Amino acid sequence: MQLKEGEKEQILSCVKDVLNKSSKKREDLIPILQKVQAKLGYLPALAMEIISEGTGVSGADVYGLATFYNQFRLIPPGDHQIKVCLGTACYMVGGDITLESFERRMEIKEGETTSDRRYSLERVACVGCCTMAPVVVVDDEVEGKVTPTRVDGIMLALKNGNDQTKDKQDQEQEDGEQQ
Ligand code: FES
Repeated sequence: MQLKEGEKEQILSCVKDVLNKSSKKREDLIPILQKVQAKLGYLPALAMEIISEGTGVSGADVYGLATFYNQFRLIPPGDHQIKVCLGTACYMVGGDITLESFERRMEIKEGETTSDRRYSLERVACVGCCTMAPVVVVDDEVEGKVTPTRVDGIMLALKNGNDQTKDKQDQEQEDGEQQ
């Protein structure tokens, strides 16, 4: 997945900072990966390359470790993160159908991010709101009784929000250019 504008610099500075504060020994590899992921939200390939160079651990070993533990995320999270609960209560009332509806609407599978990096989709275990099943967490908001029709409403609201944000950014850029 392509890096966003300015992301390369952000990755370089983040990894450099984390490496400078670590012993750079092989046994520190997991804490290094954890810290980089905490700062960037995922582990970009570029970050793993720099970590490999900085620690002397081969790129294949760094990548192998990152893929072995499911705490590490190799795909960037979307600007909007959608988490569909597939705990027992949600699954029993169609959580899997809700997930499929999002997959169809976003044209990605769970665990993936759209190519424009606006949306990511994942399945989660019980989020503690079983009475509202099937439950979806959109960014930090819990949405209950999410039927396929509601999926369309959620996606539309997110798209409208994105459009408004983009309009605002375009306007700010225009104002900046005029000054
Ligand atoms: S099973 Fe989905 S909120 Fe509990």
